[in-house]
Amino acid sequence: MSDRTIGYIVGSISSTSINRRLAKALERLAPEGTTLVEIPIKDLPFYSPDFDADFPQVARDFKKAIDDVDGVIIVTPEYSRSIPGVLKNALDWSARPWGQTSFNGKPTAVIGTSGGPIATAAAQQHLKAILSHYNAPTLGQPEGFVQSTPGLIAESGEVSNDQTAEFLVGYLEAFVALVDRYTRVSVDA
Ligand SMILES: Cc1cc2nc3c(=O)[nH]c(=O)nc-3n(C[C@H](O)[C@H](O)[C@H](O)COP(=O)(O)O)c2cc1C
Repeated sequence: MSDRTIGYIVGSISSTSINRRLAKALERLAPEGTTLVEIPIKDLPFYSPDFDADFPQVARDFKKAIDDVDGVIIVTPEYSRSIPGVLKNALDWSARPWGQTSFNGKPTAVIGTSGGPIATAAAQQHLKAILSHYNAPTLGQPEGFVQSTPGLIAESGEVSNDQTAEFLVGYLEAFVALVDRYTRVSVDA
């Protein structure tokens, strides 16, 4: 039985996404007692305030999936030095209806991969600014900048480079420590 369940959101809907491979690697490397589950975003329609009075089921399911986990890892590419529109759309759904922000108080971590030398750093700064606005406690270190090279992560999530695998294990351990700290605080309160 799992001690904690962590959700992950992949900020890419590409069928060949390298960020989905990175998410699979995190799933494989999760420490004992930790289960990672995907929180899908690809079927969310474009958000509009017109939906506030009556959220569609897919958006209700999305918000409930965030509620149901102890923490969330957002695994995202960088598009045009920011986050992809599909991810921003999902975050906008999470922030509504007003006063029911799903990420409020939810431990959250960001990580991403691209072929570029700064490996999604610009996108992650924007994402952290959004999560800060939502009042989500966010993992500060280590920063999840993974430079992608051909064959680094297989479709199954197997990581071919030991240093990268070790980095991901340490990253997960740091996030689990953050999640546990917040879970314990809310239980004791
Ligand atoms: C519209 C668009 C904008 C992009 N902008 C950036 C960028 O600003 N920085 C970067 O490192 N890569 C950029 N890329 C390249 C992506 O990192 C690359 O396509 C990567 O494979 C996307 O991740 P995914 O495979 O998980 O979808 C961009 C790609 C697209 C399609």
